[in-house]
Amino acid sequence: MLTGLVRQPEVAGAPAPEQVHLQFGADASGQVAVSWAAPAAVARPRLRFGQAGGQAGTSVDADERRYTDALTGETVWTYHAEAGSLEPDTPYGYEVLHDGAAPVAGTFRTAPRGRSGPFRFTSFGDHAIPAPVGDGSGPHSPNAGYVVTAVERLDPLFHLVNGDLCYANASDQPVATWTSYLSTISRSASHRPWMPVPGNHENESGNGPQGYLPFQTRFSLPGNGTPAFRGNWYAFTAGSVRFLALNNDDVCLQDGGFSGVRRDNVPGYRAGGIDPYISGYSGGRQRRWLERELAAASQDDDIDWIVVFMHQVAMSSAHFNGADLGIRQQWLPLFDAYGVDLVLSGHEHHFERSHPVRAVLPGSALLTPAPVAANRGRPDVVTAGVDTRFGTVHITIGGGGHPYRVPARRLHGPDEGIVVAGAGPGSPFAQRKSDLQTEPNVWSAYRDTDNAFGFASFDVVPAERGGTTSITVTYRAAADGSRDYKERDRVVLRKPVRVAQRPGSRPALTRQAR
Ligand SMILES: [Fe+2]
Ligand SMILES: [Fe+2]
Repeated sequence: MLTGLVRQPEVAGAPAPEQVHLQFGADASGQVAVSWAAPAAVARPRLRFGQAGGQAGTSVDADERRYTDALTGETVWTYHAEAGSLEPDTPYGYEVLHDGAAPVAGTFRTAPRGRSGPFRFTSFGDHAIPAPVGDGSGPHSPNAGYVVTAVERLDPLFHLVNGDLCYANASDQPVATWTSYLSTISRSASHRPWMPVPGNHENESGNGPQGYLPFQTRFSLPGNGTPAFRGNWYAFTAGSVRFLALNNDDVCLQDGGFSGVRRDNVPGYRAGGIDPYISGYSGGRQRRWLERELAAASQDDDIDWIVVFMHQVAMSSAHFNGADLGIRQQWLPLFDAYGVDLVLSGHEHHFERSHPVRAVLPGSALLTPAPVAANRGRPDVVTAGVDTRFGTVHITIGGGGHPYRVPARRLHGPDEGIVVAGAGPGSPFAQRKSDLQTEPNVWSAYRDTDNAFGFASFDVVPAERGGTTSITVTYRAAADGSRDYKERDRVVLRKPVRVAQRPGSRPALTRQAR
């Protein structure tokens, strides 16, 4: 732990920092943001940090952000401070504090730079909270607590949260729901960044134009050039991997943000013209940002892997929400054109992994993604692994803790996928019905039909003997109510490191494979 910090005299009376959690900046090897909350405004909020075991501490003032919840009228105070100019692959200690309260301590480790060393990250979506708050109408399950312990056991460098964090929009006590969620993850997220994307249940009607104000207020995420949409989409680099976080509510056709609780209880909902259906809200800004980011990453000699994480899915065998045609129309052509390697999502409350896919089945009106033919035997393909130069692997990891258990309740036959092809007329006062259509799920490689809950770990090896790089994906699942997360699926993604290829070979391969 950090030593040598000069402690201020403590003054009784101020509430203690709580819900402490970390985020990486755009460069995970050198930037970490520390965020926390307090139940009232505090004086001189600040962060002190230094290398673990070091003698000197650096102090940084924190910014205050607040909002007042439209449903309950409660005001939420959050504090954010950024630690920059950090050394790569280095452990740090920190304390967050303000006048009149004892500091709260934590630790973090920065990412390795470039191809200098391996690292692990973990991911799941659809978390919910471990115990009921308010009238208990928001989703909760014991596994929402157990999964945090299971992640901690693997000691990842960071964790990706694939949307639907705590379902505050479904609760009569949204602020208490957030407090429960962040208090639950803090025992992990105060020691490693948890990097979230907003899902449809982060849309809290009345809290900001798209309902994302509570999410945006609580997290300090890399900028995307549009301050009003900060945190909704962003990018960061860890090692030789470029991570792109997307907000799919911008492109989805389905009406996922509607909440009867908020329609009936947010003062002024009916009179105020609040509309939870926000498809297209960025006016194309997010798509233009994504294309710029993908173009840059695909030309960057220091980047071997492009990993997208988002909430709603491009493919699904679960008859729950369904895959969304809007994602296929707007995102998948870009993923193909720029060679995205891996896409992680949630929303469907189960685990499903696709074959590598590229382009669509000939003549498919639903734009059904086409699985790339088995790679074996192709001379330009690395053996002993899925070579993602030829197709993008999609993995749905939606069993974080929401108690709506898809495997037990909503799986159809083994060969069927379901797609949201449109949404009915609806209004701000009634959820638009999805137009659901079926397709052959020729893209599906594996799904867990037995376990309700699970998460995945990703071991990145940036430089292997023979000039390859790999990501080993391991899915671990637990039965309902069980703390025992057992390995259920494993796949290795492998391809040549970019610097080992001839100049320009990657775009050429990508084009050939389409
Ligand atoms: Fe969900
Ligand atoms: Fe969702």
